[in-house]
Amino acid sequence: MKSKIDRFFRKNLIDLIPYRSAREEYANQGVKMILLDANENPFTSSSNRYPDPMQTKLKNRIANWKNVNENQIYLSNGSDESISQLIMAFCEPGIDNIITLPPTFGMYKVSAHVHGIKVNEVPLDSSFQIDAQLVLEKSNKNSKIIFIPTPNNPTGNSFNLKSIIKIIKNFSGLVVIDEAYIEFSNSPSFIDSIKKNSNLIVCQTFSKGQGMAGARLGMTFANSELIAYMNKIKAPYNLNSLTQSAALLRLEEQNLIKKQAKIILKERKRIEKALRKISFIITVYQSDANFLLIKVDDSNLRYQQLIDNGIVVRNSSKNLNCENTLRITVGLSEENTRLIDVLNNIDRK
Ligand SMILES: Cc1ncc(COP(=O)(O)O)c(C=O)c1O
Repeated sequence: MKSKIDRFFRKNLIDLIPYRSAREEYANQGVKMILLDANENPFTSSSNRYPDPMQTKLKNRIANWKNVNENQIYLSNGSDESISQLIMAFCEPGIDNIITLPPTFGMYKVSAHVHGIKVNEVPLDSSFQIDAQLVLEKSNKNSKIIFIPTPNNPTGNSFNLKSIIKIIKNFSGLVVIDEAYIEFSNSPSFIDSIKKNSNLIVCQTFSKGQGMAGARLGMTFANSELIAYMNKIKAPYNLNSLTQSAALLRLEEQNLIKKQAKIILKERKRIEKALRKISFIITVYQSDANFLLIKVDDSNLRYQQLIDNGIVVRNSSKNLNCENTLRITVGLSEENTRLIDVLNNIDRK
């Protein structure tokens, strides 16, 4: 029988027979098997064997941590991979479109274009908030996914919960809430809401607050049917064994991660205060993340002056409604002090 969410799946993928490693079939037999099935090098090292394709141990720990079932979790090589997989899984090339809310995270558009999917852009309003009514008006029957990063990148603010809920309730496609910066935010996660909303997908990452950008680990949470479909089309070993081990260790260090997030937020306040005193900074936007977006008089000039002083920030000016903006990540205390000193020196000239 067809389920209610079958309608989201790409027709040609519904009957796809996934690749299966022979080993998976014997994984739970409790007997140590001799592994001669996958042409690996038999000499033991940290990574001579292929990783667990379903990441059972890690998912079990994440399920406890996030209060979901293991079959509601999809793990990926960073959120970037998950974004790409979501578009590939649900959007028909040449026919479907995704909705983005510029200024927004750039990978949604890049991924869509890689997969031959159109991007329907619905700008945020002048306060960088979502106009939910406009989103619903601009979407059509081929709008398969809307990507909502909250807190938003590059602006840093969280979106109004009411607008997000209105979209979840009324959008005809899938709603992806990208919570890459959730560790720094005052707003609650939407993970709990996946239980009641079959069209809701929540992405989180180990790259930001969890401090593991180099390991590449993204987490996607949704109802088990959507996740089963995602698993069916993924590369068999998309998450390497070193990352799986590192993440298991990181899960034991959540007190440290909370302390680090607190320090980062305190530093963000300190930077914000200092930036407000600098004459060529016109606006310091409100942030709910570990970075600040600022509007300056001349972003190219100020960007180059920072570079000349050995500091790299992001020139965000190419984003819609972000003319003359720079995005500054909160660094270590001494790095932030140097940033403030350099900006003050430039200001005095
Ligand atoms: C909103 C948002 N989503 C996703 C990502 C990518 O995360 P990952 O490093 O897990 O691929 C970023 C990275 O900057 C981001 O800002």
